[in-house]
Amino acid sequence: MIGVLASGAGSNLQALLDAGLPVVAVATDVPGAGALARAGAAGLATAVFPAGGYPDRESRDLAMADWLERHGVSLVVCAGYMQLLRPAFLRRFPGNVVNVHPALLPAFPGAHAVEDALAAGVAETGATVHLVDDGMDTGPVLRQERVPVQAGDTPAALHARIRAVEHRLLPQVVAELVANAGRGAAAAAVAVAREGVA
Ligand code: GRF
Repeated sequence: MIGVLASGAGSNLQALLDAGLPVVAVATDVPGAGALARAGAAGLATAVFPAGGYPDRESRDLAMADWLERHGVSLVVCAGYMQLLRPAFLRRFPGNVVNVHPALLPAFPGAHAVEDALAAGVAETGATVHLVDDGMDTGPVLRQERVPVQAGDTPAALHARIRAVEHRLLPQVVAELVANAGRGAAAAAVAVAREGVA
């Protein structure tokens, strides 16, 4: 079963739902995040874990891990989740936390990847699905796809084209991880990564 973490509009969550993937629970750090409405419309369990509601980030993450486990989650997908996950959370789902990022990692990690790529004047950027470790967008890459930068691109226009790629790439990779889950998390990730970089 899949648990999704999202801080924003939730269009990647929607792509997972539209692909028929077994998402059972959606957690956010942002009360009122668009992702919550999408999850509610799909009849999924939702919960808000705001950073300010806990003594520290670790207790917040552990409360979130407990909640996800209670809902039978074994694979966690960060879909526009804008918080770093503490190692204590990652240890609860070893090798089973993935993230989608709007750049060709390791280029342009962090919260401003689209703006940073434009500012650097690169000819192409893209989308990456990767395993989450305790760094900022540093975990092993599972799949990437290139998106060319166009003359006169704005951050919004470029991000819209990257999002369109994410909406195809993320459900594909997650479906493969689910299909390979019986082989163990690490083996499943290696199998998915072997599919290559587009
Ligand atoms: C996506 O571009 C994702 O890569 C980034 O934040 C955006 C989230 O979009 N981390 P949405 O909330 O899924 O629409």
